[in-house]
Amino acid sequence: MGRLNDRVAIVTGGGRGIGQATSLRLAADGAAVVVNDIDDAPADETIALIEAAGGKAIKCVANTVDMEQAKALIATTIDAFGKIDIVVNNAGVTRDKMFHGLDDEQFDFVFDANLKTGFHTTLAAMPYLREVAKQEIAANGKVAYNRKIVFTSSVAALMGNPGQYNYTAAKGAVIATTKTLARELGAFGINVNAVAPGFIETRLTAAKEPGNDLGIPEATRQMAKMMISLGRLGQPEDIANVTAFLVSSDSDFVSGVTIPVTGGQLGGM
Ligand SMILES: NC(=O)c1ccc[n+]([C@@H]2O[C@H](COP(=O)([O-])OP(=O)(O)OC[C@H]3O[C@@H](n4cnc5c(N)ncnc54)[C@H](O)[C@@H]3O)[C@@H](O)[C@H]2O)c1
Repeated sequence: MGRLNDRVAIVTGGGRGIGQATSLRLAADGAAVVVNDIDDAPADETIALIEAAGGKAIKCVANTVDMEQAKALIATTIDAFGKIDIVVNNAGVTRDKMFHGLDDEQFDFVFDANLKTGFHTTLAAMPYLREVAKQEIAANGKVAYNRKIVFTSSVAALMGNPGQYNYTAAKGAVIATTKTLARELGAFGINVNAVAPGFIETRLTAAKEPGNDLGIPEATRQMAKMMISLGRLGQPEDIANVTAFLVSSDSDFVSGVTIPVTGGQLGGM
């Protein structure tokens, strides 16, 4: 018996990296997973991996920076599974640039992809999280079980990071809004928390190739390892493990917090 049997989970950005590992983990724990990504092929890959492991998942390609596409993601989930219990807001992106060279387009693109995706997806899910909980409370005096929202911040927001003014603006806002939403939704048995990954090996932290928008300088990668107490770079599964806890009933009395998952990165808690 998986600890997420009968639960329905949405994972945004589920096609690659941390989102893929999280989708696989929640499916392995028994959840039916809606794998959202802006890119089709990576989402297909996640679905294939889940199905090969005997899990249940469907794909929804959508860019939830757009509210209409967030509504479509929620509608797809309801059509397929009839309810929503868990929303993991993981989608995010970087476009690193030192502050003095930053322009509005680069700021808005990163801010929206890291903050508005979670805002829109969670807002569109409210009728199936808040309203359903409200009906349960009216009928039975309590919710049937706690529902779960997880956002994704970053160690960069806890420490500051050169070249990431746009990214830390969004990831810092994720920490603040997680607290606010936890206070609003607690009365409805909805836990709202965030993870703040440290240095996790995905395409976002790969050595930057010339002409590539993503990635970081090789020197930064080497330095990162020296700052991690546990002496290794993180893997997507390290984040999936903590998110699996935050969406399970084991965390029913945890809300409004951001958990740094950094391997004990110096300065990153
Ligand atoms: N890798 C790290 O070290 C690290 C550290 C701190 C925080 N994070 C955060 O973790 C999350 C996952 O990052 P990752 O390293 O796995 O990156 P990744 O690039 O490997 O995966 C992110 C996925 O999100 C998707 N995506 C991007 N914008 C989207 C949108 N608007 N709508 C739907 N899907 C979208 C991408 O297509 C991609 O498949 C991000 O929020 C990132 O900021 C990562």
